[in-house]
Order: sequence, then C-alpha cells, then structure tokens
Amino acid sequence: MKITYYGHSCFSIVAGGKHILFDPFITGNELAKNIKLEDIKADYIFVSHGHFDHMQDVVAIAGRTGAMVVGSWELYSYFSKQGVQQVQPLNPGGKASFDFGTVKGVAAQHSSSFQDGSYAGVASGFVFKTGDGSFYYSGDTALTLDMTLIPKWTALDLAVLPIGDRLTMGVEDAIEAAQFVKTSKVVGVHYDTWGLIQIDKPAAIQEFKKNGLTLYLPGIGESIDI
Ligand code: NI
Ligand code: MN
Repeated sequence: MKITYYGHSCFSIVAGGKHILFDPFITGNELAKNIKLEDIKADYIFVSHGHFDHMQDVVAIAGRTGAMVVGSWELYSYFSKQGVQQVQPLNPGGKASFDFGTVKGVAAQHSSSFQDGSYAGVASGFVFKTGDGSFYYSGDTALTLDMTLIPKWTALDLAVLPIGDRLTMGVEDAIEAAQFVKTSKVVGVHYDTWGLIQIDKPAAIQEFKKNGLTLYLPGIGESIDI
C-alpha cells in the first residue's frame, strides 16, 4: 500500500485504486507549509475526532474533490451542515462497506470537541480491510486494552499510531499498542508539530527496533510503500 504523509496526523493511503485521506490539517501546520491543499487527492476523507488539528481542511478538500467524508454521528451532522455533499456516519463498533473494502469504527481513548468547545461525539479509530491489505489508524488515543479486539476482526499489515506523547500515546505506549494489534509495521504520526510533542526520531526508531518492530517516519510530502 502506498502511504503519503502530509504532516501531523494527516496521511493518505491508496487502496482499491481509491485515495483515502485521514485527518487533514495542512493550512494550520507550519511544518506542512510546502504542501499545497489543491494537490491532495481524495476520494474519501476519514475524520477521527473533532479537534481542529484533525479536521481543519476537511471542508475545503471535500469541496474541491467531492470526496466522501466519514466520521462519528456528530461529525456527520457537523459536516452535513457545513455543506459537504457526501457524508456518512460511522461510530465505534459499526462497520461500513465502500468500493475499496470494509471499515470498522473502533474505540479511541481521547476527548473530542469542536473549536468553540461544543460536543463532537467520541473520538474514534478506524480499521480497514481492503483487497490491497488491512490497516488500523488509531486516531488520537491513549494505549487501551480495546486495541486487543482489533486482531480478532482482521490480521493487520500495518498500523498508523500517534507517538508524540503528552496529548496522545508516546513511543513506549505505541510499541505496546503495536503488540496489542499484532503488527510489526507502524507509521508514526502526531509528533513534532509543536514543541509539546517534539520527539527524538532516531531514538524512537531504535526503540521500536529493540522490540522487533519497524517504525516508519516518512517526511512531510513523502510517499512510501509498505
Ligand atoms: Ni485530539
Ligand atoms: Mn490531535
């Protein structure tokens, strides 16, 4: 699967010939200033929760591409009111089928609110089962035993996990999470965007390696094949 990193927790994966984008936050991210919103391809946009650093550019990208936006019931209501044409709800515990495969909403241990402080539903993660492989994007979350349920549904080829600590899991807990979900390949996100979540990248890669895992940290704008 081809994965492109757009900074913070924004990335896209191509599966079943579709560009699936996650948590777009480009225009507010100083580190992603070389990424042009207009260049980002999206057939689908999955949104993990309502915090601004996960959805700031959803409406703009969906408006230009016509992408289908998928998130919790509250995000579904919000984006419908924002005029997004194609929106579908998917709450933790639920499954939905798309042309590229099946997606399950899963629990995340995190808060979720809109910029004005109003309720944005619960935070969630997503597990994808596609013809090109299976993967898990946890969204912002703490390490949680709920993750051990994921490999009961599908064997994963990779997981995309936050590693920046303070606001989400850090490296130590992300290693444990990879073991819970039974994958050896992890793409790290949600780090370095602000001083609070700065990490030592070589040390993080080394720490994963010591545990028999591979941590991928593609540069912003870089695509890798896993
Ligand atoms: Ni968050
Ligand atoms: Mn966040």
